[in-house]
Amino acid sequence: MQAIILAGGYGTRLAPLTYTKAKPMLPLLNKPMITYLIDALPERVDVIVATNYKNEQLKEYFDENGIEAVINKEDKPLGTAGAVKNAEKYIDGTFMVLNSDIISSINMRKFIQYHFKKKAFTTISLWPVKNVEEYGVVDLRPDGRILKFVEKPARKEAPSNLINAGAYCQEIEVLDYIKEGEFVSMEMEIFPKIIEEGKPFYGFTFDGFWIDVGRHTSYIEVTKILLRKKGLRYLSGESTIHGILKESTVGDECVIGENSVLKSCIVYNRTKIGKNIFMENCIVADNCEIGDEAILKNVVVGEGEKIGKNCKIENEKIWTKPIPDGYPRKQIGNPLSF
Ligand code: GTP
Repeated sequence: MQAIILAGGYGTRLAPLTYTKAKPMLPLLNKPMITYLIDALPERVDVIVATNYKNEQLKEYFDENGIEAVINKEDKPLGTAGAVKNAEKYIDGTFMVLNSDIISSINMRKFIQYHFKKKAFTTISLWPVKNVEEYGVVDLRPDGRILKFVEKPARKEAPSNLINAGAYCQEIEVLDYIKEGEFVSMEMEIFPKIIEEGKPFYGFTFDGFWIDVGRHTSYIEVTKILLRKKGLRYLSGESTIHGILKESTVGDECVIGENSVLKSCIVYNRTKIGKNIFMENCIVADNCEIGDEAILKNVVVGEGEKIGKNCKIENEKIWTKPIPDGYPRKQIGNPLSF
């Protein structure tokens, strides 16, 4: 069995972090986000990573760390179904499709078993939400068969509170539904077609946690969940920490100065944070400097940026350089972008 990990998006909502790093390479507890998905897969599953933007970063990391996976690059973004079609030559039977930016407690083995037990054509993972009016929810029968998707229903009219959780198990014939070389969305174009034709389309629910790491807030939230799961109050790589870290992570070769407090923060590598600083809900990329006495709340600092002494900044993204060539000015759009 193969798993196609969709890892080619620009991650526009996570800019400026994604101006310099591929979203699947953003660190989560100091390890690239994509490694959590790979680790969750059963051993006998071959990994195909569908890439595009900053493909070389993934390739380099996999080579350096001996991660066995095929990196399958698209010449241009092909969308969530187009990217799967582009990997057709690697697929030899039932296959999985995983969004690289969803971190969850799904048990992949049980998910695959469920798909086979139901003799499904496509099975999608489902997660319950409170605010149904912001999502597409499924209308499903008690046996798990999905009859349709209902986009952003009013609360009273919602057929369920279950949304597409971004992991799919599919039969190889699904590939026949996808046009080659074109931008095709699995969620918008292929799923409705499969349902319309009456093919067995099922939903798999699971317990635990599920987070779409699409935004800065959810990126911090998932960091805190994973820290708690590991029983850690903070995590630091090989860095010099004089201050206090609360529910935060710090990478390698960083310095956190005396009397500085970092609460719910993510700091990448080689960043210097001065003295007497207070930071809350902040993400600071590689090679940054934050001057003494600064107060930062809900701030995202892009790679290589410097913030002066005594600065008080709230709810801002710091990026002073030009936006990299070719980086989209707005979100390309995917129904899974919550
Ligand atoms: P935003 O720009 O912030 O919406 O992020 P994104 O570009 O990652 O898009 P989104 O979160 O909607 O994508 C969901 C998943 O599909 C992510 O894992 C993306 O890497 C992946 N993805 C989206 N579009 C493509 C594509 O055209 N090709 C490939 N290979 N993967 C894609």
